[in-house]
Amino acid sequence: MPRLALLATGGTIAGSGSQTAYRAGVLDARTLVEAVPRLGELAQWQIEQAFALDSRDLTPAHWLELAARVRALQADPAIDGIVITHGTDTLEETALALHLLLGNAGCVVLTAAMRPATSASADGPLNLIQAACVAGAGAGRGVLVVADGRILAADAIVKTHTHAVDALQPRPDRAATGSVLGEAVHFGGPAPAPRAALLRADAPLPRVDILYASAGAPDDLIDACVRAGARGLVLALTGHGSVPAAWREALARARAAGVSLVRASRVGAGGVWPDCNEDDEAAGTIAACHATPQQARVLLMLALAARPVPARNDLVALFAGLPC
Ligand code: SIN
Repeated sequence: MPRLALLATGGTIAGSGSQTAYRAGVLDARTLVEAVPRLGELAQWQIEQAFALDSRDLTPAHWLELAARVRALQADPAIDGIVITHGTDTLEETALALHLLLGNAGCVVLTAAMRPATSASADGPLNLIQAACVAGAGAGRGVLVVADGRILAADAIVKTHTHAVDALQPRPDRAATGSVLGEAVHFGGPAPAPRAALLRADAPLPRVDILYASAGAPDDLIDACVRAGARGLVLALTGHGSVPAAWREALARARAAGVSLVRASRVGAGGVWPDCNEDDEAAGTIAACHATPQQARVLLMLALAARPVPARNDLVALFAGLPC
């Protein structure tokens, strides 16, 4: 029987109430595990309550704390794998942060639920069982997400629906990493080549804001973010990620103040590429490539926290390298 650690962080999977009116993160980790007797037959559990939060309230400091706890657990020879329960709302951010901050020697499985534990047809119990199965079988696969029978890569998930149980999906350009049918784990291919952590960052992470473009959006928020201390801005731009003319001067001021600027798109698929917008590249902005705006923010925060801080060309390479 594998020995698994459960790190609970809150979320709807630990929610109590009806399907439409509930509070996330109120049931503790032990209650969650004891409510699903099958979990005790699948693994020996070391249970820890890391946080008890709705994931909208998680912060970058929580990513670093979680990464540090996972590192410590992975150094313990008594632990074979780790399951993290989490809210779905910012799961994609925590998953990417852990993917960047940890190597892939072990297996860390994030799981979640769209329906609270006390609702009819709660999806959390099966997700937990399937996460345990994957964590026990996934050594060498690094950080994964398991939900609704899918195994998803941590750098490629998106939440696509506000309430459907299959809300967590692979990004449109990526396939699922595998599936779980009942308790049978099927990976779509062999484990990736071993790799170390891609970034190492210390708290506090620098401020990086996301600015959402829309028809006629004014530029004054750009200056406001810089005045408030942002070291990076992710621009969630229209279409294929070109900067509106009305934003160019304010962005040039931000750039001159040393702020890193990343062009992402508010469109859900297709990415933003350096060769699409030569003027914007010449103005010093960086194409997010595959990264969504929220992923680009995670990557930029962690990169700007690294010592030494990467130069623009290194940031360009980091974005081009995701997925990695
Ligand atoms: C949360 O993200 O904590 C609440 C929503 C969810 O888990 O689905």
